[in-house]
Amino acid sequence: MRTPLIAGNWKMNGSASLVEDFGHAFTDTALPASLDVLILPPFPYLDAARRAFDGTPLKLGAQTLNPLHSGARTGEVSGRMLKEFGVEYALVGHSERRQLYRENDEAVHDRLLAALSADITPILCVGETLEERDAGRTMEVVLRQVGHVMARLEPEQRPRVVIAYEPVWAIGTGRTATAEQAQQVMAAIREYQASFDRDLASGMRLLYGGSMNANNAAELLSQPDIDGGLVGGASLKVDDFLAICQSAG
Ligand code: G3P
Repeated sequence: MRTPLIAGNWKMNGSASLVEDFGHAFTDTALPASLDVLILPPFPYLDAARRAFDGTPLKLGAQTLNPLHSGARTGEVSGRMLKEFGVEYALVGHSERRQLYRENDEAVHDRLLAALSADITPILCVGETLEERDAGRTMEVVLRQVGHVMARLEPEQRPRVVIAYEPVWAIGTGRTATAEQAQQVMAAIREYQASFDRDLASGMRLLYGGSMNANNAAELLSQPDIDGGLVGGASLKVDDFLAICQSAG
């Protein structure tokens, strides 16, 4: 049985007061018994979040990391540093980093290895553009992005990876993939894992991201191969994010 996972990616948003609001809201709140919930705030809020989330179910994640342990990389943050702040998960390959910071599949692979070596669970983000979907290339693009990383990991590394399917055309647009569209891609991603190991395929957590909100979360999360959500805009509203978490039971 896979433990559901709901992750809130704040991107370059939020505030110290929002961190406090989440800490208060998730104290003594009723959540499904078996659920992992995490917030991925901008780096400056990590320490405040670790303190505010202490005693709540909220775990901490990072939105990216540098592949190096340390060094001359102005403005960057390493997995070792994130671990010191209690970070347990990290996104790698988010479409905004692929597009805006030109992180190609190789750069994503390097960052995923860095997360693993820092004992941080990587959330590998994959997804096609609208142009690629309209050209019928969704599975080709998604499985290329997944395969470029998974095929090069050691067998013992693969089960430590979470994969998030985020169709680029659904991110921040309010245009959510239908449950059927999302399930079709997730099933293909899971079937690809089976080419390595059946147990890997059945145990891997697959998340959907792309305009998930309090109204559509329950239908998406009811799909057999969707184990959780990677939530952007709706994770900045305490009540909406709580509602999504409560849908995950
Ligand atoms: O990483 C999650 C994000 O890309 C989804 O954003 O605003 O469409 O939920 P949003």
